[in-house]
This record gives sequence, structure tokens and C-alpha cells, in this order.
Amino acid sequence: MLHNIEKILEEARQFSADTKDEIEQFRIRFLGKKGILADLFSRFKDLPSDQKREVGQKINQLKQFVSEKIELLHANLEEHADKEDMRDLTLPGPPVQSGARHPVSIVRNEIIAIFCRLGYTISEGPEIEDDWHVFSSLNFPPEHPARDMQDTFFIEKDPDIMLRTHTSSVQVRVMEKESLPIRTISPGRVFRNEAISARAHCIFHQVEGLYIDQNVSFADLKQTLLFFAREMFGKQVEIRLRPSYFPFTEPSAEMDISCQICGGKGCNVCKYTGWLEILGCGMVDPNVLDFNNIDSQKYTGFAFGMGVERVAMLKYQVRDLRLYFENDIRFLEQFKAAY
Ligand code: PHE
Repeated sequence: MLHNIEKILEEARQFSADTKDEIEQFRIRFLGKKGILADLFSRFKDLPSDQKREVGQKINQLKQFVSEKIELLHANLEEHADKEDMRDLTLPGPPVQSGARHPVSIVRNEIIAIFCRLGYTISEGPEIEDDWHVFSSLNFPPEHPARDMQDTFFIEKDPDIMLRTHTSSVQVRVMEKESLPIRTISPGRVFRNEAISARAHCIFHQVEGLYIDQNVSFADLKQTLLFFAREMFGKQVEIRLRPSYFPFTEPSAEMDISCQICGGKGCNVCKYTGWLEILGCGMVDPNVLDFNNIDSQKYTGFAFGMGVERVAMLKYQVRDLRLYFENDIRFLEQFKAAY
């Protein structure tokens, strides 16, 4: 009988309940008039007296355990019910940490959006390129010192395979396969073999533009860039073009915008000139058109190229290039308000 009681006790220990009904059934099964305990007590009476003491203790122990367990089950159930009743569905949810776009992405998207409004398409190409697309077809003759303007990361020599130093290479690919007129911008990462400092990095981002059609003039280039500058920096912005040199454009120019900090009066940001350099541009050299099987007698074009980090520096006044690549969350979080 002792063994039997032990088994019943174990069964009571294992029991759990989710509803009041289940607890009540448990109570009736054990403590009811025809329940397990009543049965045990009646059998207890017929036991030989030398067993009564031990068995009696065991039955009492079982009875106490079951009674306490029933109380405990009720208490648990109520505690749960309390919690559910206290749920306030009008409370605001726990705060969600939202991310921010990277400033380079913000500025790149803005540049792209402006040129898309002018009807430009977006073109992309490989970051690993051959000599033809980066240099030769863009009128860099072999051994020409102009190749030193952009220190190149070579991957293979003879034939030369390299990381592109500008996204002009994408525009060569567009000239190869698309029909005229061409009006496209090519955003992308570029690579130059430079020591990393506040002012230079070996990776940065560019958006370059190319427009080829009949009768495209320098005036079109100037008007396009003025529109871009005003959309990007505000209506008050002025631009100026300074003569420059690129192998793939003739004439070539560099564009400055009026300094947004001092309004052109002169300050330490613009080194007291009132102007900030922002991009390179020019009329596509007829050689480049010919290299790409475009009739330079019939067609003219303009091209321009800018560094996205450079535009971001001017826009956000963050002038250490390295910050754009470190991905320090304290820096990135400050751009949450931007889109
Ligand atoms: N490709 C040039 C650069 O990487 C920029 C540029 C593009 C200049 C088009 C003139 C015309 O520096």
C-alpha cells in the first residue's frame, strides 16, 4: 500500500492546470467523497495495526500535498489573469532603433534624382576594367603622362587589368552598345592608389555624366551644371568655370560653386577665395567619339564628373574623408533627419 501511495503522490506532483475546471476536477478526483483519499482512508481501517502508523502518515502527507497544490494552482491562475487584465493596449510600444542612410548614399541619390529630372538614364559597369575602357579609348595615349594623374591599382600587367579610376569607363561601354543620342549618368565606386588622409582616400564614389547628340554645345553644358548646382545647394548658388585639362575633353574646365558658408565673401572654408571646386567637365574630345565609332563630324557631346564625398563634404561641412568610410555609428546616426 505504501508503494501505491507513493505512485499517487507522484501523479499529483506531475499535474498542472490551465483552467479552473481542470483544478476542480483534480480536487474531486483526490479529495471528493468517492475520491482517491476517501478510498485510501477506508482501506486504512482494515490494515493490521503494526502498519497503521506508517501508512497513516503517508496518507496525511498526500492529503496535505494535494490541498496545498490546489491552492497553489488557483493562485497561479489568478496571477496570470491579473497580468492579462492589466495589459494597456493604448500604451506606446517599446522604442524601435531605426537606422539612417549613409551620407554618401543620401548625396548620391540626390545627384541621381536631379539628373533623372533632366531625362538622364543611369548606367553601371564593372569595377575591374581593362586598359581600353579606363584609358586608351578615352584618349590617354600609351605612356602619356596624363595616366599619372590617376594612380592606378593594377591587377594584371600585359594586358593591363585594373580597378577603374573613374566611371568614365562605364560611359565608354554605353557608347559601345547604345544608340544615339546618349544622355546618361554613371554612379559608382572608383579606386586610386593614394595614401589615406583627411583629404584623400583610395576608394571613393563618383557620378559622371555624358550627353551626346547633334549640336550639343558648351552653353548646354554650362546650363545643365548651373541647374544641378542650384537644385543641389539652393537657388542662391553661383557657378564659375575655370579652364583645365583632361585627355578626354576639349575644351576642359573645372567648376566651382560660390562658397555657401560665407556667401562668396571669403572664409577659411573657401580659403578666402569665395569659391569651392566641385567637378570636372568639358566637351567630349572628337578622338573619343571616333574611338567609339561615333561620327565626330556629325555629333558633339559634353561630359562631367564629380566625387560624391566631395559634394557631401560641401553639403554637410564634414571635411575628413575618412569619416565616410569608418562607419562609426555616432557619425552615421547624425544623418537620420536627412532622407
Ligand atoms: N573622369 C574625370 C575624373 O575622374 C572627371 C571628368 C569627367 C572630367 C568628365 C571631365 C569630364 O577625374
